Amino acid sequence: MTKEEANKKIEALRKELREANYKYYVLAQPDMSDYKFDRKLEELQKLEAEFPEFYDPNSPTQRVGGEPVSGFQTVKHKYPMLSLEKSYNIQDLKDWINRISKLVDEKFTFCVELKYDGVSLSNRYIDKKLVQSITRGDGIYGDDVTNNARTIRTLPLVLRGDDVPYEVFARGEVLISRENFERINNEQAQKGETTYMNARNLAAGTLKLLDPKIVAQRQLDYVAYFMLGEDLPVDNQYDALKKLEEWGFFVPHDYIKAENLDQIMDFILDWGVKRFDFPYDTDGIVVKVNEFDIQEKLGYTAKSPRWAMAYKFPAERKLTKLLSVDFQVGRTGKVTPVANLEPVKLAGTIVKRATLHNEDNMKKLDLHEGDYVYVEKAGEIIPQVVGVDKTKRKPDAKLIKFIDHCPVCNTPLIKQGADYFCVNTATCEPQIKAQIEHFVSRKAMDIEGLGPEIINLLYQHGLIHNVADLYDLKVDDLKDLEGLGEKSAQNIIESIQKSKNQPFERVLYALGIRHVGEIAAKLIAKHFKSIDHLIHASPEEITAIKGIGEKIAESIKTYFSNPENIALINRLKQASLQFENREEENIIDKLHDNKFVISGTFEHFSRDELKKNIEQNGGKVVSSISKNTDFLLAGNKPGPSKLSKAQNLGIPIISETDYLKMIE
Ligand code: IVH
Repeated sequence: MTKEEANKKIEALRKELREANYKYYVLAQPDMSDYKFDRKLEELQKLEAEFPEFYDPNSPTQRVGGEPVSGFQTVKHKYPMLSLEKSYNIQDLKDWINRISKLVDEKFTFCVELKYDGVSLSNRYIDKKLVQSITRGDGIYGDDVTNNARTIRTLPLVLRGDDVPYEVFARGEVLISRENFERINNEQAQKGETTYMNARNLAAGTLKLLDPKIVAQRQLDYVAYFMLGEDLPVDNQYDALKKLEEWGFFVPHDYIKAENLDQIMDFILDWGVKRFDFPYDTDGIVVKVNEFDIQEKLGYTAKSPRWAMAYKFPAERKLTKLLSVDFQVGRTGKVTPVANLEPVKLAGTIVKRATLHNEDNMKKLDLHEGDYVYVEKAGEIIPQVVGVDKTKRKPDAKLIKFIDHCPVCNTPLIKQGADYFCVNTATCEPQIKAQIEHFVSRKAMDIEGLGPEIINLLYQHGLIHNVADLYDLKVDDLKDLEGLGEKSAQNIIESIQKSKNQPFERVLYALGIRHVGEIAAKLIAKHFKSIDHLIHASPEEITAIKGIGEKIAESIKTYFSNPENIALINRLKQASLQFENREEENIIDKLHDNKFVISGTFEHFSRDELKKNIEQNGGKVVSSISKNTDFLLAGNKPGPSKLSKAQNLGIPIISETDYLKMIE
């Protein structure tokens, strides 16, 4: 076969498979047998391997997922990803309609859609082809998860139709059906791996997996609810959804044009019932002003558009029998009461346990043994007990009281605010195990192979009593433990050794000081540069850092005033963990390692100054544009070839003013 013939054949197969994929997954009207599809896909794979010059990241062969990656790039959204204002009752919705009606003179209509409970994702298409998929992140910056997004069968890689603008963004929700959620959770449980609270968490976790092949197996879905860009072929939301559907997207399963609150309410009442039998989780409906010109007039607040409002369905509530109350000891020693319940189905999952929060809440509920209790899901995630049906209570039922000693180590509990704590951080088993689990976790020291079961095993065999003991472990200590062998023991020890390179900010986070989360640890490490400076800092010096309040400062002081903690840090220092910033970590990371190409002349900087400035703010400067470039920073008279190359590759072109805003 000549090159030219191969190219033709490859293109024809791609087109055919793309069509078949669309008919199967989006329209649910398959017209090609699975057998035929697989044969054609194989043929295409073979040709692509033989003629690598025709590689295309949007080929149907890429749906199975490419090579694993080591992390995700943080990138800036061209248009910020805002959220929606929420309402919980019809009155709020009515008030909103009245409010916006006063702001514009013209008559307008609404587009009413289902609100899916998934993870939002913005997809950029250039010349009909998917070039980048970014998670919401903080709304300004998100993670580039394009490789994972490409495995989503209901996300088109190449758009259909002749009226697609050169650049267009499709925004929508990554979902996982309830059926798939159950299947995957069962599989995870059988393998002894993490199970997920709900379909949204599973979708979010899946999108952040580093191996696109596993993402492909999870069978995510995508529903598009919004289009953004210049020169759009439509002028209202209802037509935009129709258009997105024509281009090959799944769009909300039901959406209507409404003229008034009554029609909106009909939709709400209808779906308030139907949603329980719907294959995907929905948590409300979204009402959008339909006409784009009116949307523009209404504009945006800092967080959300004024032209849209979410109506959240009321939380589902069920009555079930209380079997017993457990008191759980967490990583920080906090004791949380948890109700064990007769299993009940709530908002799509089976609930067996629900939190009772704290003593005050238990008192308010006036909980007695054998009570029938109402359970609800808070934000559809953690089930909680919200009330008691006292008519069902037996006259001799006993009141359930909060405990005064640790249920595990029997240390007297101490009350702080509304919570009770077991202060025996050094030897109380669940605290130690949770501290170690936190220490090795991905965002902390990222030590692989040490899941809760292995940690438990090491603890039961007396091999570890605190996190410093990890660094004394040897292959010989591990290799004969149940479920381990020479190889996995070696891997664990290697991973422990490797963690000694983790930067100070991670070590600080890994220590698990109360209230010192990932972000606080970063800010503190940047500011103090070493643990010794931090240990000797006054609370005022700590709260002087923007973003760090008194609660954190106080917790830090308490932590370091405990000689056992100082002894632990000294042992970790001896094991050569990083307790100081390395040179490069003193850079202010505003540009998240993004790569810039500079072109033209600038008002505030010479070229050299600009280069230095980018590096000082945590960015990189590269000389020529490639698909790995994040921004073209264009000043006065930028080079035309750089401009057109950036445009072709879909690389954002920013001005000096944009840049100054980025480093503000
Ligand atoms: S429109 C400018 N429509 O709900 C805001 N959002 O905070 C554009 N969502 O972040 C959002 N279904 O992830 C819109 N039909 C729908 C939606 C929807 C789900 C999500 C979206 C957004 C969140 C609201």
